[in-house]
Amino acid sequence: MDIKIGLIGCGVMGADHAAILHAGVAGARLVAVQDADRARAEALAALSGTAVVIGNATDLIAHTDVDAVLIAAPDPTHAPLVLACLAAGKPVLCEKPLADTAQGCRDVVEAEIAGGKRLVQVGFMRRFDPGYRALRQCVATERLGAPLMLHCIHRNKIAPDYITSDQVIANSGVHEMDIARHLLGEDFAAVTVISACPSRLMPNRQPQLLILESASGVVVSVEITPDAQYGYDVQGELVCEGGTISLAPAPPVALRHAGMDGFTVEADWRQRFAEAYRAQMVEWIGSIQTGHPAGASAWDGYMASRTAVSALEAWRTGQRVVISTEVRPDFYAP
Ligand SMILES: NC(=O)c1ccc[n+]([C@@H]2O[C@H](COP(=O)([O-])OP(=O)(O)OC[C@H]3O[C@@H](n4cnc5c(N)ncnc54)[C@H](O)[C@@H]3O)[C@@H](O)[C@H]2O)c1
Repeated sequence: MDIKIGLIGCGVMGADHAAILHAGVAGARLVAVQDADRARAEALAALSGTAVVIGNATDLIAHTDVDAVLIAAPDPTHAPLVLACLAAGKPVLCEKPLADTAQGCRDVVEAEIAGGKRLVQVGFMRRFDPGYRALRQCVATERLGAPLMLHCIHRNKIAPDYITSDQVIANSGVHEMDIARHLLGEDFAAVTVISACPSRLMPNRQPQLLILESASGVVVSVEITPDAQYGYDVQGELVCEGGTISLAPAPPVALRHAGMDGFTVEADWRQRFAEAYRAQMVEWIGSIQTGHPAGASAWDGYMASRTAVSALEAWRTGQRVVISTEVRPDFYAP
């Protein structure tokens, strides 16, 4: 029987998730949508052809026809909505970040442990990207020896309006905080942040450079440029004892045209990570069917948010900030 999905938030990401379900994910069906802007929900329901519009998020979560919930509303709504899903005993895939505060993430972790069942997956979709999977495999098998450094680049063509200088770190950079921790298989111990001067094209927000230090001493550099103009560009190069391994440009073809030789660059994250978003959905549905969790857990979401909080402190103070260790509860053992 199909898992019946209810979607909260019908903006850019909600519409993208709905399109993935509409294109066909075995064993899943979108049955209900909700948005603070009802017209958006109605437009998406009409496009999907299978979903009804529900007036508020509480009713959607409680709806007897909804088996599992997808949250793609703004960051501050995430923790309360995930807690409501846990109270209803329903699996939930929540867009990143899990909460807009570390305490919000901690509340989710504690509620999930108290409920005794893993129900939360956080939408860190890079974990499902074939390139990042290959990097992780390289670390896990020690094919190139132990990792020494990881260089990450995260550039948006023009970031959404809600991205301010702090959000460059906490909203965009949180992707790198999660994927770098996932690749290295260890938590971060310290973070330093250096801000670049703002682009004259976008004077209200700064590009950020983060230096993260892992518990074992691997150094991770993260450049986040919110308004790079030329396209959406995510790069990663892992430097190991015996060589390096990098993400290749995502398009499968190179173009020679009009005196240029190279790869096209995607306009935004939806095209760049299309395969990852789809795999994330497929594996989420699979995890509900089998009872084996997939992707980033609530604990992973909490760890990413703790790192983000420390990075924001480093940004405000201009100091290197030490991140205290926290022992992962057995409940979240892989
Ligand atoms: N995984 C990724 O790569 C990725 C990329 C972009 C955004 N995101 C995350 O996805 C979420 C949504 O981002 P977006 O770019 O789609 O934003 P958006 O502004 O395009 O869409 C958000 C939608 O939520 C609705 N909304 C606002 N408050 C609501 C509430 N209380 N209840 C229900 N609906 C409400 C808005 O009307 C809007 O339609 C954010 O948390 C963001 O951080 C993730």
